[in-house]
Amino acid sequence: MREWTREERYQVLESPEQVKELHERIKTSAWRQTYHVQPVTGLSSDPNGFAFHKGVWHLFYQWCPWGAVHGLKYWYHVTSLDLVHWKNEGVGLAPDTYYDNKGAHSGSAISDGENLYFFYTGNHRDEDWTRTPYTCAAKLGDDGKPVKREKPLFGPRDDYSEHQRDPKIVWNEEKKRYYIFIGAQTLDGKGTAQVYSSEKLFEGWKFEGQLHVVGYEDFGGMWECPYIVNISGKDLLIFSPQYTKLPGRAESTNHNVYFIGTMDYDTLTFAPDEGFSHLDYGFDFYAAQGAANVGDPDKGILLAWIGLPDNHYASAEEDWEGSMSLPRELRIKDGHLYQYPVKEVMALRDEEIKPEGKLPKAAEMELTCDGGDLDLNLFTLADGNGGLTIHYDASSQTMTIDKSHLTLRFNEAVGEKLDMPLRTPLKKLNVFIDHSSVEIFANDGEETFTAHVYPTKEETGYTLVGNAVAKLWPYKASVKDDFVI
Ligand code: FRU
Repeated sequence: MREWTREERYQVLESPEQVKELHERIKTSAWRQTYHVQPVTGLSSDPNGFAFHKGVWHLFYQWCPWGAVHGLKYWYHVTSLDLVHWKNEGVGLAPDTYYDNKGAHSGSAISDGENLYFFYTGNHRDEDWTRTPYTCAAKLGDDGKPVKREKPLFGPRDDYSEHQRDPKIVWNEEKKRYYIFIGAQTLDGKGTAQVYSSEKLFEGWKFEGQLHVVGYEDFGGMWECPYIVNISGKDLLIFSPQYTKLPGRAESTNHNVYFIGTMDYDTLTFAPDEGFSHLDYGFDFYAAQGAANVGDPDKGILLAWIGLPDNHYASAEEDWEGSMSLPRELRIKDGHLYQYPVKEVMALRDEEIKPEGKLPKAAEMELTCDGGDLDLNLFTLADGNGGLTIHYDASSQTMTIDKSHLTLRFNEAVGEKLDMPLRTPLKKLNVFIDHSSVEIFANDGEETFTAHVYPTKEETGYTLVGNAVAKLWPYKASVKDDFVI
């Protein structure tokens, strides 16, 4: 894989011409997605600033223009009217001030009906590369581009390490105040979140204290991308803990977890009903962010980066990598979280085809099962061997997904085989395939599994063994791959 110098990774984008050729080249890749948001060039990572405002869904992604590398980060802007058909809008936030000179890092958005406001981390670095993270803000201008507030809202606290970033803005109706949650690391290296509050969005911010998640005082070394939402009267807290291994997650030290419980804004205590759960059991799901202003107290809408920090993917050879997941509707029923692609996704179904062992490049497969053992292998070779193997073991109610039989292997060191334990026997499985990703939803969103895959020209088949009725729909394209910078 290509080695990058710091100068190359942190080069400032002066003109679209600098990356036009790269776009033209990657556009022809066999792994380019057709119904997922993906980087216009280079690398996409965290979803940012996701919100519904004046009839439009706004989404941004962390973008490094230059290649499959984490370097100088921009917010790249895409919009949609239905969460499925996405249009490239160009650069949203560029790292062009003193405060964000080495990156416009992750953050969130909120609409007050009139305006759309953004909160993000300005990643400042001095010449000696010392980092100072600022909490910065911007507002959507009349021309559809975010306009930065001249000064940051506040700087970092010196009683935490340099890891203080990814502001999540929320309005608390009871307190009549806005709150910002910031992912942080204590001076003794523990992951946590800081809480700030203000009556107004662009002024008056005050540090309230540290979030206390009962029982999780020592859980990883940094909590990236915190997110909190109330769904059907329960609080859902999500973040991405790092620098720790978790049971059942092989060698990975980057995770995305959630808690259902109660948030007390007086004591800044989140009391979980139960322990943490994995938001997704797949190899590649991180930095998930829900949309703001969804407008329905019983649902959330969330998507994530299909990818993990420290990992690299087969498309890196073509100088690009990363993708957004499908937007998922979140519901909480009987104390459990359910996640399922928003219904507009199903409108992409083309005419149903007979499931005869051939896999379209973009498709949805639905299996109706009887709860017994099952083997579904995707992207198999002509002789039926190889592929991504998905085994359901009825006695332990566990699915095991193994990617080690694919021709192109990547990130072997963090593990190629993971389990997805189910709460109830497997009755339904929906698999959403786009050219280089697979998203698996078991039992209508009881559990999910997301992964990148890079099938070769020969890996176009699938095999199914077990008692299941399969349906297969090719999918229509819904994301424009236009060169807009
Ligand atoms: C998570 C993250 C964030 C940071 C951003 C930088 O993947 O490390 O904490 O703001 O990426 O791109």
